[in-house]
Amino acid sequence: MCGIVGYIGHREAYPIVLKGLKRLEYRGYDSAGIALYDGTDIKLSKTKGKVLDLEHKLESEISTHGSLGIGHTRWATHGVPNDINSHPHYSNSGDLVIIHNGIIENYGSLKQELISRGYTFKSDTDTEVLVNLIEDVKKNENIKLGKAVQIALNQVIGAYAIAVFDKNKPNEIVVARLGSPLAIGIGEDEFFIASDASPFIEYTKNAIYLEDEEMAVVRRHKGVKIRKIKDDSLVDNYIQTLQLNLEQIEKGGYDHFMLKEIYEQPNAIRDTFRGRLRTDEAIIKMSGVEDNMKKFLNADRIIVVACGTSWHAGLVSEYIFEDLARIPVEVEYASEFRYRNPVITDRDIVIAISQSGETADTLAAIKLAKSKGAFVFGVCNVVGSSISRETHAGAYTHAGPEIGVASTKAFTTQITVLTLIALRLARAKGTISSSEFRHQMIELELIPDKVKKALESDDYVKSIAEIYKNASNFLYLGRGFNFPVALEGALKLKEISYIHAEGYPAAEMKHGPIALIDENMPIVVIATKKGHYEKVVSNIQEIKSRKGKIIGIVTEGDKQVRELADHVIEVPETIESLTPLLTTIPLQLLSYHIALMLGKNVDQPRNLAKAVTVE
Ligand code: F6R
Repeated sequence: MCGIVGYIGHREAYPIVLKGLKRLEYRGYDSAGIALYDGTDIKLSKTKGKVLDLEHKLESEISTHGSLGIGHTRWATHGVPNDINSHPHYSNSGDLVIIHNGIIENYGSLKQELISRGYTFKSDTDTEVLVNLIEDVKKNENIKLGKAVQIALNQVIGAYAIAVFDKNKPNEIVVARLGSPLAIGIGEDEFFIASDASPFIEYTKNAIYLEDEEMAVVRRHKGVKIRKIKDDSLVDNYIQTLQLNLEQIEKGGYDHFMLKEIYEQPNAIRDTFRGRLRTDEAIIKMSGVEDNMKKFLNADRIIVVACGTSWHAGLVSEYIFEDLARIPVEVEYASEFRYRNPVITDRDIVIAISQSGETADTLAAIKLAKSKGAFVFGVCNVVGSSISRETHAGAYTHAGPEIGVASTKAFTTQITVLTLIALRLARAKGTISSSEFRHQMIELELIPDKVKKALESDDYVKSIAEIYKNASNFLYLGRGFNFPVALEGALKLKEISYIHAEGYPAAEMKHGPIALIDENMPIVVIATKKGHYEKVVSNIQEIKSRKGKIIGIVTEGDKQVRELADHVIEVPETIESLTPLLTTIPLQLLSYHIALMLGKNVDQPRNLAKAVTVE
């Protein structure tokens, strides 16, 4: 995790780097730092805390002048978040300064070697080891910074995106990547470096995304030279034109990114199926599926790998694929799958789901599946991300940038893509009739408006949040397609409000969690008309007899649950497989309001980061 930014050109670097760090704070926000070259020396300031804390500290501490700068916002791996462990880090001589996103796994042995050669260390970080390793190589071999970085990185095991410069050669920044993203923005005689394109989008739409095991020397007035770290071969600069715009990465009048992203869901879902769902022609068109149809049709099973919310979307897809396309599905935590020696064959299809496309465990699971011959299909949101490049084929969600750390629109758009794939395969396999196929398409097309309607419950959900905001625990129950939604509802609440919450299949409640229920326990029960309704109503009776407080998520017009529950939140009616797209909306709003009422940082919850690029 961590966000890195750099600038070299004709403008003042500080405001660009600072604003860039604010945009990248979703990647980590426990400490931040900036190093600038002011024409004679390096000026460096760093602090525990957020970028705003850095801004206050830095402007009283150092001059902010200089047209070369690098900055870092941290999510701690090695060493607690404090001023010393914050980046940038100097080398022992003070000549080199580095920022790093990732983990150097063999930093312990490298550090010992450097200590034996007289190096000293101020911080507990692996990054300070790396910058001194580069310095050591540079001095011993009497070579340029770029070459020294290359030789040093060949001794390193781990993951990194780095930017480093030498105060004696202040006309270049050397960058490199392995396993952590790094983009270079190409402006008019100026260059930007960042973990993603958001820090430089208002300056240039032209960007190069470094591939794994590539490094680049970015030279003032001269341009970018990219090489392979391993064999030194030159790589062509592949400049992409970015589709991103500034509006997409700003709050647009909302108080928080999370709220904006919750409200963006009607459009995000529509954008995701636009051009793919062709109801008039009764076809679903997805080139990634079409091009590989034979593989899909011959597959023995689908294995879904993902983490967190994306894993929950994967769980929903298990119900959808099995129900519609009659293909057996297994849904795996990528972190477990990658270390489990799983049985995979070339007749398996692995679907990797990831909003960021950078999640380290999901990426490793993909590599494992590929090595065993499986065909790997990606469902990612971030275009050009590592996972989208590592997979054999894929389909993007078109949710737009998701910046709030708690995933919302990524979840619903992932379910949308997975539904489209399942429907397409179902049609190709003949497991649903043409009239049913058409019916499902029409229902999916209606979902954005129904999500809009579900969002109208916002004020009512807020009033419920007010009642339960001080609860210490919550239970979330659902069945069938809505069991994963219960898991997702609980995850949303705990990650942003820090209230303990458990998601459970409703019928499992009596096998343990029922013991927790008393008059202090709020229980959110998803009880839509389609799907085990009567059974869930029985579960609600069981809760009621134990005096639990029931918040029912029900279909519009519901009467039975209304009689039993303390509160009911209505969502529009739809077919069963699509109910998760609606039932999840009030759960997102509930967690948002509770967290806000408790004074929590909704967009940047403690200890978390948006892209988990470490395992
Ligand atoms: C929860 C959340 C995380 C992510 C998980 C996977 O709100 O955001 O659980 O879903 O870290 O991230 P991606 O989808 O980027 O692979």
